[in-house]
Amino acid sequence: MPVHVRAEPGDFAESVLLPGDPLRAEYIARTFFESPRLVTRERGMLGYTGSYRGRPVSVQATGMGCPSAAIVVEELVQLGARNLLRVGTCGGYHRELQLGDLVVATAAAPQDGTVSSLTRGVPYAPAAHFDVVHAAYHAAERSGRRTFMGPVVSSDLFYDPVEDPAGLWSRLGVLAVEMEAAAIFTIAAMRGARAGCLLTVSDTIGEEVVRISDEDLRAAVDNMVELALDTLHG
Ligand code: ADE
Repeated sequence: MPVHVRAEPGDFAESVLLPGDPLRAEYIARTFFESPRLVTRERGMLGYTGSYRGRPVSVQATGMGCPSAAIVVEELVQLGARNLLRVGTCGGYHRELQLGDLVVATAAAPQDGTVSSLTRGVPYAPAAHFDVVHAAYHAAERSGRRTFMGPVVSSDLFYDPVEDPAGLWSRLGVLAVEMEAAAIFTIAAMRGARAGCLLTVSDTIGEEVVRISDEDLRAAVDNMVELALDTLHG
């Protein structure tokens, strides 16, 4: 049994949704799964398994930041997970991004310590698995939701004293900032699993930071989770 995700092989489905927030994991399981079962609660990092349209699926909280996500993903793979889909929020850098938009991350620039520790500082481009990106693209297209596909940056900082310094990330075509995808993509690649990442824009970062309301965030995240389940099981 792994040290942190305390569960047995077979407790998790091969396909796992990965929100950062444990309470969002609980909400997803109770709202969208048939017959949800709590499979781990170690450190409050809740994980559930149930089914969606009759097929097994799990949801596991990663916590915040790449170090936490790296532990969780490594242990999920040890437990038999093969398809990993982060569902989270992001801060939008791209000028056209509006609050509540969906971002499908194709890659995640690793502005974090975890990926460079794993690669021993060797330059590396963490990327989502093509199969997951492809399925997410079609799920988003079917839903009609405003969707942007492209790279994001995974930062160690939520409260960054210098957001998007000199517009660097925007000029490089990076759509948004979040905090876990780079580690999830890297560990999945190292361990032969497939990973992807869907994000709802919860704040836009320009001259000033503008945040989404709680109510609009809830609706946008609900829609994203349906899309994520379609991506895994569509
Ligand atoms: N997740 C949502 N908004 C974010 C931001 N501004 N920075 C990092 N992660 C985020």
